[in-house]
Amino acid sequence: MKKEFRKKVISERKKQNQDIINSNSELIFQNLLKLSEIKEAKNIMAYLDFNNEVKTDNIVNYFLSKNQKVVVPITILDEKKLLLSEIKDIETDVSIGTYGIREPKSGFIRPVEAKELDIVIVPAVAYDINGYRLGYGGGYYDRFLESIRDDCLTIGIAFEIQLFDKIPKEDHDAQLDYIITEKRIIKI
Ligand SMILES: Nc1ncnc2c1ncn2[C@@H]1O[C@H](COP(=O)(O)OP(=O)(O)OP(=O)(O)O)[C@@H](O)[C@H]1O
Ligand SMILES: [Mg+2]
Repeated sequence: MKKEFRKKVISERKKQNQDIINSNSELIFQNLLKLSEIKEAKNIMAYLDFNNEVKTDNIVNYFLSKNQKVVVPITILDEKKLLLSEIKDIETDVSIGTYGIREPKSGFIRPVEAKELDIVIVPAVAYDINGYRLGYGGGYYDRFLESIRDDCLTIGIAFEIQLFDKIPKEDHDAQLDYIITEKRIIKI
């Protein structure tokens, strides 16, 4: 059930053209900045987009310009886990890694503990309005989100076409604090 649904949403997301992706990503960024917690956060985890996900370069660069620490994940296939690394410059720190996702390259890996994070900006294939998410099926974020502090804020960002009233969920699926699309900010 998850599998079919995942495939359907990914193919819908693929149909969006780059102009729409760029302009909606910008609107999502603007909505994200409306959260007061963003300004106070010291350590923020984001992701580096691939595959027609919500674009995050502007978000990462904005935090860097405010001297906030930005952390991105590196996928560790063997252990099925995410390694966290501080990023200081997207251009110089990053190369294409596992699954074709951009990640800090050897020599630019600066490990950060999950407990240091104040905010995590989470990618997804789909969300529902109760804050549940569907990823690519590795369970990477589900496992990782169990290791953050209780007071760490989790924010899912996605296009409106990825947001549903209800999605298939299992007991291990993490629930987020906010979902933000180009149209709305949902506080769970
Ligand atoms: N917290 C967890 N502890 C142990 N195993 C887990 C946990 N979360 C997920 N898994 C396992 O990982 C596999 C994939 O989970 P799921 O289908 O929820 O992935 P997903 O949420 O789409 O992926 P991701 O979290 O990487 O975005 C499942 O077999 C599940 O049992
Ligand atoms: Mg899951």
